[in-house]
Amino acid sequence: MNVVGISGSLRRGSFNSALLRAAIEVAPEGCVIEPADIHGVPLYDGDVESAQGIPATVQDLKERIARADGVLIVTPEYNGALPGVLKNTIDWCSRPATDIERVFGDRPVGLIGATPGMGGTRLSQNAWLPVIRALGMQPFFGKSLYVSGASKVFDAQGALVDATIRRLLTDYVAGFAAFVARSR
Ligand code: FNR
Repeated sequence: MNVVGISGSLRRGSFNSALLRAAIEVAPEGCVIEPADIHGVPLYDGDVESAQGIPATVQDLKERIARADGVLIVTPEYNGALPGVLKNTIDWCSRPATDIERVFGDRPVGLIGATPGMGGTRLSQNAWLPVIRALGMQPFFGKSLYVSGASKVFDAQGALVDATIRRLLTDYVAGFAAFVARSR
């Protein structure tokens, strides 16, 4: 079972990229989470699309999602909503609209996220739901993971050092993997 994991942060020291690395580590046997790198995805521009088509970085990611059994979105929260860099990436991947069904349709999707703040990315995770609905994906609602106080959850190297979050993350990924397996 192959899951594409996407961190919605470009920051080298990103807590969300650290959370994705930890998810990869704790994934159950038989479930491989492969991280996607969204550096290099340009801003969506309909004129560029008309003149040059879909950028190669975007086409690669589209095909990886289309081949995957599921997608794990690891999202920061910006101003009470989702991060523009990842929304921009998903918007590009939804072009042309005739490809949405093939790339996203019925694909299981999980949502987790980390913030140094108190809210654990609840608002951001909720803000992704209309996007997931628009793309016709299958959201996993069986468990949830909201990581708050991230500067204490990860060490300076980005390793997950909080035992409770490690247990919750392990539970989440196991539940999501079972959901993906049921959806195949
Ligand atoms: C934030 N941050 C933030 N955090 C939060 O919990 N709720 C919020 O609404 C916001 N809003 C917000 C807006 C902008 C523009 C920035 C840059 C930041 C803080 C954010 O959670 C923090 O920067 C994280 O470290 C971002 O995730 P990464 O890069 O660590 O993965």
